[in-house]
Amino acid sequence: MLRSKSVLGRLRRLLRAAHPRLAAPDDLWARTRLPDAEFTVYAAMDPRDREHAVRVARRVLELHPDASDVLLRAALLHDSGKQVRPYVWLERIAAGLVERPVQGPPLEADWRSRPYSALEVRLRHPQFGAALIRAAGGDPRVAEIVERHHAPGDDADARVIHAVDELE
Ligand SMILES: [Fe+2]
Ligand SMILES: [Fe+2]
Repeated sequence: MLRSKSVLGRLRRLLRAAHPRLAAPDDLWARTRLPDAEFTVYAAMDPRDREHAVRVARRVLELHPDASDVLLRAALLHDSGKQVRPYVWLERIAAGLVERPVQGPPLEADWRSRPYSALEVRLRHPQFGAALIRAAGGDPRVAEIVERHHAPGDDADARVIHAVDELE
């Protein structure tokens, strides 16, 4: 019974991932959490990524009721770097299977002016997200946590997001 429930849950999640219209991100909740500059970065994400972001942020709050404002904002924006490429369901699944994100070389000044492959987005979205947040005038500490969410090292905030993200 438990097993079939989890299979059903997984199927439901796959279906939702395939259709952006099935995603129902709680943007109003995100709006109450994010200052204007950071909300513009959030709002530019695909609805499926926004739904995931709200889920992660709420889970952070459940597990850490005393979570700081900055940590919650970083949770909402942790995958914002994925917006540099349109969301393609099968591509996301395939890219997720191959490799873990890494800390690549610093971004070039004109990094936003060229297209990125699905694999590049998979590997470098923490850097892209951090750069988008900084460019929008968001909090530098929020950007820093986002940049570290796949390789948190000794950054306690980034470790919280990484752990919750792994449960997804
Ligand atoms: Fe990520
Ligand atoms: Fe994530």
